[in-house]
Amino acid sequence: MSSQVLVVEDDRLTRVRLEERLSEAGYTVRPAEGVRTARRLLADAGFDAVLMDIGLRDGDGLQLLEELRGSAPNLPVIMVTGYGDSERTIRAMQAGAFDYVTKPFDLDALLQVLERAVRAPSAAPVDERAADPTPLVGASPAMLAVWKAVGRAAGSRVPVLITGESGTGKELVARAIHEHGPADRPFVPVNIAALPSSLVESELFGHERGAFTGAVARREGRFEAAGEGTLFLDEIADLELPLQTKLLRVLEDGGYERVGDSSRMESHARIISATARPVTPGPGSTLREDLYYRLAVLRIDVPPLRERRADIPLLVQAFLRQVGGPTRAVSEPAMAKLMAFSWPGNVRQLRHVLEQTCIMSTAEVLDASDFALESSQGAPAPAASPEAAPEDLNLRANLERVERHLIEVALERAGGNRAQAARLLGIRRALLYARMLQFGLRGED
Ligand SMILES: Nc1ncnc2c1ncn2[C@@H]1O[C@H](COP(=O)(O)OP(=O)(O)OP(=O)(O)O)[C@@H](O)[C@H]1O
Ligand SMILES: [Mg+2]
Repeated sequence: MSSQVLVVEDDRLTRVRLEERLSEAGYTVRPAEGVRTARRLLADAGFDAVLMDIGLRDGDGLQLLEELRGSAPNLPVIMVTGYGDSERTIRAMQAGAFDYVTKPFDLDALLQVLERAVRAPSAAPVDERAADPTPLVGASPAMLAVWKAVGRAAGSRVPVLITGESGTGKELVARAIHEHGPADRPFVPVNIAALPSSLVESELFGHERGAFTGAVARREGRFEAAGEGTLFLDEIADLELPLQTKLLRVLEDGGYERVGDSSRMESHARIISATARPVTPGPGSTLREDLYYRLAVLRIDVPPLRERRADIPLLVQAFLRQVGGPTRAVSEPAMAKLMAFSWPGNVRQLRHVLEQTCIMSTAEVLDASDFALESSQGAPAPAASPEAAPEDLNLRANLERVERHLIEVALERAGGNRAQAARLLGIRRALLYARMLQFGLRGED
């Protein structure tokens, strides 16, 4: 007997296309144009799989999915949708969707997913805890794969290793996994690279009073602080070998000792680690192979921004909203410029460039010329060495210095004429006046 598939899709054309193709492939298809019909048909049971759109005219497919997890936990549901946003993907995977396919979809790929679904019904656990969504942006196929992995990881306690270049969003991904997991548990981040190596052990495992010079009181370690929550070990590749051995033991049986104390402590924390360095076992990796496999039971690779340029417009919009102040937009040529750039510093760099540009320019529509991307930010410039940077790294203070300098130069070139200086600076006169007042500069109209 052929497998029965319920296709819930409100777009008639898509529905007919799916019906045709699935019937051809040997499935018995029952179409439903909305949540109401779907509920009615589902009452008859007998389905082997459900293909369901998320945004339905008479309701939300995600809600129906959640209902189904209660009433038919073994029925595989494949979500098909035009939305490509992270929150929905995570929620769908978490609510136990078998898989998630975005439109426009490749029918052959969809058939493969369906084939898998019918053969191996999933019984993913229901997870209804509503979490504060992390503002994660991205709808490229590469990031959808990441959101799916986040949804899956959130439903389990296995160690997760997140890899990816600097600034790709590894920490955000770690937080998203945590936030979509059990509520009211701590998220404890430890940046191993930021700690002096002599302190890493006591920071992680805690120490007994008098364990070493300076250990004036007993101190709780981060493992203990994490309790049943998440311990986020950032820059894990920087962990020194003796501590890798100690960490391996915690991963094996939860046991460890405080520094200067031999009694056994037990960790119940969920371990998420991250690194921008190569850690896959082999030459170049600083991680013990056995530790790698323990940490990377689930591995999530966050792709560099240049490999998912489709996310750039979404990120730009999100960051422009976050900057606050007047509503801003980016002109088409400017967006083209941003999309063509290689972004060696990934999302972090994109964010900084937008923040900086919003401070430097008051134009409502930011143009290509407002974004200086070529040389200075094209590659990690050697000139921008830590030594050459100013003592005080406060971005706003430094930008103010630059701004003041440029205004002075413009006023000088314009012979003190403020209207002309504003033109040279590409800002509105009112803003120039405000800045001049702020910086105590003088000029004339
Ligand atoms: N998908 C995203 N949506 C929104 N903001 C993002 C996204 N990815 C990264 N960001 C932002 O980019 C910045 C860098 O992200 P994050 O700190 O998570 O990167 P990372 O991979 O941990 O970098 P590093 O290896 O340097 O520690 C943060 O300000 C973060 O908010
Ligand atoms: Mg990080």
